[in-house]
Parts: sequence; structure tokens; C-alpha cells
Amino acid sequence: MGYVLAVLNQKGGVGKTTTAVSLSASLAQEGYKTLLIDADPQCNASVSLGLNDTNQEGTLYNLLLDDEKEFDNNKYIVKTCYDNYHIILGSEVLYALDIIFSTKSRREFILRDRIQNYRNYYDFIIMDGPPNLGTLSVNIMTASDSILIPLKADFLSLQGVAVLLDSYHKMKTYLNPNLYLNGVLLNMYNISTNLSKEVEDNILFNLKELVYKTKIPQNIKIAESPSHKQPVIYYDPKCIGSIKYKEFTQEFLERLHNKKLKG
Ligand SMILES: Nc1ncnc2c1ncn2[C@@H]1O[C@H](COP(=O)(O)OP(=O)(O)O)[C@@H](O)[C@H]1O
Ligand SMILES: [Mg+2]
Repeated sequence: MGYVLAVLNQKGGVGKTTTAVSLSASLAQEGYKTLLIDADPQCNASVSLGLNDTNQEGTLYNLLLDDEKEFDNNKYIVKTCYDNYHIILGSEVLYALDIIFSTKSRREFILRDRIQNYRNYYDFIIMDGPPNLGTLSVNIMTASDSILIPLKADFLSLQGVAVLLDSYHKMKTYLNPNLYLNGVLLNMYNISTNLSKEVEDNILFNLKELVYKTKIPQNIKIAESPSHKQPVIYYDPKCIGSIKYKEFTQEFLERLHNKKLKG
């Protein structure tokens, strides 16, 4: 059974897309069958991989509105140019989901039900979330096994995490009791500033071992890679950003392994 991870934080610009793309590309490179779902109307993940056809018929939006009982799973899968690595494209119209779903029954579970079959084929399904906690985020959280929170190492980002954790607890209570927190990944970490260290100390104090040991530094190659339509681990495999994202992938896999052993 495939494992579904949501990369979530309602704050924009914290590294959700960068992390979703880098982790999924890295898992695929490790040989795991991986599906990235671009669940953000900004479509940054799709565009980062050079897949700009986000107003086509086969996007996540169409998948969510596909009412066929036996819908064709393959219709929505786009192959990337890397082995084991597929994507479901985002769509600008995902903006309208709050309105479109407002009259649907069981609207919180539509994504969960639509992606159920994909779990049989993929080892990992990684979802890149939008910068808000609306209908799409609720659907992402009911569809997922766990949440990974990228945290930008600045003061205001900490505030946002409290809101996100509150939303996570509500989701767990009312809609998805099996959901758990995979962890927090510090991003744009700058070893030479007190601010990064302060943010790290604060989040470590509150969330302890949930915080990943690996920290992603600020790295220009990470920022350049989307315009070259490649995950950073392919754009410049030797840069510090790639090394750290690969290190993070190993820590992520270890964490899952340990969780499985503990049950
Ligand atoms: N560690 C990093 N070093 C340098 N630039 C980064 C890093 N992480 C993200 N960025 C850049 O910061 C911007 C916001 O990141 P992004 O992943 O799109 O955030 P989000 O999806 O949370 O809005 C993007 O331009 C991205 O390339
Ligand atoms: Mg994004």
C-alpha cells in the first residue's frame, strides 16, 4: 500500500513546493514508484518540472470532478522525464473548489476516494499543498497518512505553525483519526544568523524529535532550478541544496521505517 504525505503550511514562500518536488524526485531516484500531486492552484510544482499544460483536461481539478464510477486512473497521470516519477498536474481552477464543492455531500473526502486506487501502484504519493487552509487543504488532510511541515527559519513563520497544528488536531478529531505529523523541516536555514538559531530552538522546544535533524540551507541553486525545469537534485546534484535534500530523504525513510517497527 502506497504512503501518502501532504506537504503543508498555509504560509506561502516557506518551501512547500521545493520540498514536495525535491523529496518526490529523490524518492523516485532511490527506485520508489512516486507520484507527485500538484494540489495548488498556483501550479508551481507542475511548472517547476516544465509541465505547463495546466489548463488541460487531465489535471487534479478534472480528477476531483470526475463522477464516473470506474474512472480511468491513467487519464490523469503525466510521466516526467525521470524513471519512477509521475505527476498529477495542478490547475488554476482549483481556486474555485471552495465554491464548487460547497453543495457536494461528503465533500471533505473527494480527494481521498479519488486517489485510493493510486495507492496500489505507487510506493509514495506526495502532495504539494496550497497557501491556505480551505477546502483543498481539508481534502488533502483527509487523503493523507501524514503531514510534513516545511518551516522557513524566520520569526513570523512560527506563528503560522501554531495555526496549522490546531487545524491538524481538528482534522484528526473530526475527519481523519489516522492522520499524524510526520515532522517539521527547517528551510532557508542560515547558520550564520541568530534568527535561524532562535527559530530552531523555539520549534525544537515545542515539537522536539518531530523536527528533522537535516536542515535545508539557503542555496541559490535551489532557487534557480525551477526556471531550468528540473528538480534541484538533477539541476546541480553536487550543490549543498541537493546534498541536504538527499540527506533529508534518507532521514524521512528512516523515520517511516522506525514508525513501522513501533506500529
Ligand atoms: N532553501 C532554499 N534556498 C533558496 N531558495 C529557496 C529555498 N527554498 C525555497 N526557495 C525559493 O523560495 C521561493 C518559495 O519557495 P516555494 O517552495 O515555492 O514555497 P511555497 O511552495 O511554500 O510557496 C521559491 O522561489 C523557491 O525557489
Ligand atoms: Mg508552493
